[in-house]
Amino acid sequence: MSREPAGRYPLPVRILILGGTGEARELAAALLTTGTDMLSSLAGRVREPRLPEGPVRIGGFGGADGLAAFLAAEGITAVVDATHPFASGITANAAQATAAAGVPLLVLRRPEWDADPAWHVVGDITAAAAAVRDWPGEAVFLTTGRRDLAAFAGDDTHRFLVRTVDPPDGPAPGRMTLVTSRGPYTVEGETALMREHAIGLLVTKNSGGPMTAAKLEAARHVGVQVVMVQRPPLPPGSASVATVAEAARWVVRRHY
Ligand SMILES: NC(=O)c1ccc[n+]([C@@H]2O[C@H](COP(=O)([O-])OP(=O)(O)OC[C@H]3O[C@@H](n4cnc5c(N)ncnc54)[C@H](OP(=O)(O)O)[C@@H]3O)[C@@H](O)[C@H]2O)c1
Repeated sequence: MSREPAGRYPLPVRILILGGTGEARELAAALLTTGTDMLSSLAGRVREPRLPEGPVRIGGFGGADGLAAFLAAEGITAVVDATHPFASGITANAAQATAAAGVPLLVLRRPEWDADPAWHVVGDITAAAAAVRDWPGEAVFLTTGRRDLAAFAGDDTHRFLVRTVDPPDGPAPGRMTLVTSRGPYTVEGETALMREHAIGLLVTKNSGGPMTAAKLEAARHVGVQVVMVQRPPLPPGSASVATVAEAARWVVRRHY
């Protein structure tokens, strides 16, 4: 007769990482080194996404119900929502789907940038566009992403320098110079870009993190004003951490 030795035994674990961020890629790499069964998910928004290591699926789930069905079909035992702080749709769906499926959820959100009293802080992109319309200067640097350009499309008073990963495919400002690129950026580079285009106002979302923070220091340096869009709140009751290391520990704890 065989007897199992005393001790704790690994539980079956299959982690879904909702990704599209550097933190999601770092978490995937960290979990791979622990041998965790995991799957990363991307929305498929950008043409050439930076892919995480390990298995990846791409495309929407079909709302919260579709995600709940996916969790069941794939035998997912825990979800880490490591999506961008402004990806509030998928974050709401993850909260709803995991609650319905009885699957634990952790939100990984990088900290916001330290607030500067000189910023003009607004609640959403519509308020940012209104603030720009009221601004008496000429040249505006928009780094809010191509899907947020529609809010500025009716503004023919200002000249816009727009930076996006892929070219816009919807409404955009008429007087627009487009730069397609992806961070990380340097303070020197951002300073030179703002000077070259005689920028007087920067509009950005409070994404946080080091990849795109250089523009804020450059703006201070050059004397460019900043309109900062606040993050949408997390769904009520969300468990969240700020670092990849904390998220990895949360996952590893679920093994036992
Ligand atoms: N918003 C930003 O500023 C920003 C910046 C950088 C990166 N991103 C990344 O780009 C992706 C899309 O952002 P968003 O703001 O467009 O999202 P969103 O508005 O919150 O989500 C819209 C829909 O896209 C699908 N989706 C989003 N993230 C997904 C993921 N990781 N895996 C599978 N499906 C996903 C879902 O479709 P279904 O309802 O069909 O499931 C979701 O309902 C996110 O993964 C985010 O991390 C966003």
